[in-house]
Amino acid sequence: MKQIVLKKFITKCHNGQNKLSLALITGASKGIGKSTAKTFANAGWDLILLSRNMDSLKNLKVELSNTQSKINLVECDLSSSNEIESCIKKLIKKYGCPSVLINNAGCAFNGDLIEMDLNKWKEIIQINLTSVFQICSLIVPEMRKNGGLIINVSSHASYNAFPKWGAYCVSKSALAMFSKCLREEERSNSIRVSTITLGSVDTPLWDSESINSDFDRTSMLSPIKVSKTILYMATQPESQLIEDLILMPSGGAF
Ligand SMILES: NC(=O)c1ccc[n+]([C@@H]2O[C@H](COP(=O)([O-])OP(=O)(O)OC[C@H]3O[C@@H](n4cnc5c(N)ncnc54)[C@H](OP(=O)(O)O)[C@@H]3O)[C@@H](O)[C@H]2O)c1
Repeated sequence: MKQIVLKKFITKCHNGQNKLSLALITGASKGIGKSTAKTFANAGWDLILLSRNMDSLKNLKVELSNTQSKINLVECDLSSSNEIESCIKKLIKKYGCPSVLINNAGCAFNGDLIEMDLNKWKEIIQINLTSVFQICSLIVPEMRKNGGLIINVSSHASYNAFPKWGAYCVSKSALAMFSKCLREEERSNSIRVSTITLGSVDTPLWDSESINSDFDRTSMLSPIKVSKTILYMATQPESQLIEDLILMPSGGAF
């Protein structure tokens, strides 16, 4: 027991951050979020993992049982504003305020803007943008007490226009600006806000029925390598901040 406590302490000191020990990762059941959970758990972080799919989260918790991390699971549908409010309030009460918040959950949809159903538009904006605003609104007031770090996961679709990806591009573009504005507003409260902007990553997102694509997935970024970059961002000394990081496949992204 003593050894476990000591190892955890050493890991945190090695990372150069004592305060940053509990991370909330949204969209942790698959893809980048799942890999990030694995990477952070292996680095000794305690985690709160959130998604709609409790079975996947439970399986991940079993996979991570050989690490020293405390893994907490939260089932929450980010398409529902009411659910977000009750889930985030409950998780803060139960597990405490995370010192690192990774807003990773997201969805994509392939279709022309003008033919797009209004409800589909609202769903994409809700999950990719409004849920991040809502989660931050609930967490930041708590986070101000001890300071913290927020990492928002964006895409090169935030500054490149892709036909048939309009709603996704708009949501990620707005997320990138949300991130910049929040950064400036919260600097004086010891809250640091980062954006990681990614090129294509080989994740289950590309299996979705709503995406008709036959891209070469072998040339995409790997989620585990992306997660190591996220850990690198999270383990910067508190006196510095990687404000915006763009990570692309070296062969170019699509
Ligand atoms: N893959 C890429 O090429 C790429 C490139 C640039 C940026 N990104 C961004 O990276 C992030 C992660 O993407 P990914 O590729 O890892 O996607 P993914 O494999 O499809 O995983 C998406 C995650 O988001 C969660 N999620 C989706 N809708 C949700 C909802 N309504 N409520 C709660 N959780 C929800 C999913 O959980 P459940 O389904 O279990 O609820 C899942 O854990 C996204 O923000 C995406 O836009 C991805």
